[in-house]
Amino acid sequence: MLSQLKSRVLVRTIFEEGSKLEGKEVTIAGWVYNKRAHGSLLFIDLRDGTGIIQISAHKDKVPMKVFDDVEKVTRESSVIAKGTVRTDKRAPGGYEVGLTGLQIVGLAEEWPLPIDAGVDVLFDKRHLHLRGEKQTLIMRIRASVFEALRDWFRQDGWIEVQPPMIISASVEGGATLFKMDYFGEVAYLTQSSQFYLEAMIQSLEKVYCLAPSFRAEKSKTPRHLTEYWHAEAEAAWMDLDDITKVEEQLVSHVCQFVAEKHGKDLEKLGRTPDDIAEIKIPFQRISYREAIERIKKKGLKIEYGDDMGADEELRLTEGLRKPIFVLEYPKSLKAFYHLPKPTDPSTVMCGDCEAPEGYGEIIGGGQRIHDKDTLIERIKEENLKPEDYEWYIDLRRYGTVPHSGFGLGVDRLVRWICRLDHIRASIPFPRYLTRRTP
Ligand code: 4AD
Ligand code: MG
Repeated sequence: MLSQLKSRVLVRTIFEEGSKLEGKEVTIAGWVYNKRAHGSLLFIDLRDGTGIIQISAHKDKVPMKVFDDVEKVTRESSVIAKGTVRTDKRAPGGYEVGLTGLQIVGLAEEWPLPIDAGVDVLFDKRHLHLRGEKQTLIMRIRASVFEALRDWFRQDGWIEVQPPMIISASVEGGATLFKMDYFGEVAYLTQSSQFYLEAMIQSLEKVYCLAPSFRAEKSKTPRHLTEYWHAEAEAAWMDLDDITKVEEQLVSHVCQFVAEKHGKDLEKLGRTPDDIAEIKIPFQRISYREAIERIKKKGLKIEYGDDMGADEELRLTEGLRKPIFVLEYPKSLKAFYHLPKPTDPSTVMCGDCEAPEGYGEIIGGGQRIHDKDTLIERIKEENLKPEDYEWYIDLRRYGTVPHSGFGLGVDRLVRWICRLDHIRASIPFPRYLTRRTP
């Protein structure tokens, strides 16, 4: 069977080189995305990994056996089709294939996802739902986001490293730790690879990773997953201002890359490509204090010292076209490792990057404490045990340097770029409070 595919033509090639292929017989392989009948004319929309093309079969023009097979074939059946390429203005993409032969490879059972299927049904059958056109576009864009992240880091001289996912102490506080039995001892799934990156900057200086992070988030929101992809970076000799510049360049690069490569895809998702193409440096920077003032002016009840929730983030970013940095939060709102501001130690040298239109925080980062005693003090202040952080404190004992880093939520970035209602649509197999299958 597969020997026929040696001369296979991809759907994208037909659209790109259609005029060269016009009148020629080609072999294509894929899945029946859709089937329609107009009297004695049958149409199949055939999907392969590169696109969807219309195939037509006229009862009077194809052998009886071929027509019977087209009649028999069901949605999502896998097939190998032979046919002649021709221009047809009415066909999506301007080309269609006039069928001359059809081999059914896997005749599909009745498709279990009706057009009006609810979210639960779709995500119960996510392994099938992913074949939808919208889902396919999102996955392509997601792949490009990963490509662009790596691309930028590589060009800017950062080294990719691979931290562990099984760890022994919290990074972002105990409340969202997934606990596991590790041969009779307690271990956790990592919430962030930050500390491991911090351990690698002494040899590599600028490091990053693309890895999952896990959060036992009990909250049911459109922006929280329990397993999400985290692009994290850490650099020696950088302060808050330096790392903020890195973050905005990175986000801007990803946006330019995606807007350029996926203009049409973005449009199909209801996102104007220019919205994304316009995400250029610099992004606005305001202090946490100023953010609270702005939110108050918009009528929400919030005081200095309160954390920002989804409503507050929406108010802060509505009407903005670009992400905005909120810098220098009160110490009480942030994890222990953030560097207290020398001129006001009640705040820390941190920065969150908020996406526009209320898509929420896409990056958290800042400058770290590099002094050993200050670090131990902060660990104790947060009622954590210094002995759990022995190796992390060691980094301050042997050649400590000022350093900074950040973590970018890749699924949140994809959600914002693709303008998705819910973060679950941005990742192939989402994990959230009520879902761990398929
Ligand atoms: O702000 P967070 O908790 O910061 C850290 O974990 C730092 N240790 C990162 C670092 O400096 N290396 O998480 C960073 C980002 C958030 O801004 C958000 O985009 C994303 O991770 N994030 C989530 N994304 C999806 N689901 C969740 N439950 C998330 N929690 C955080
Ligand atoms: Mg955060």
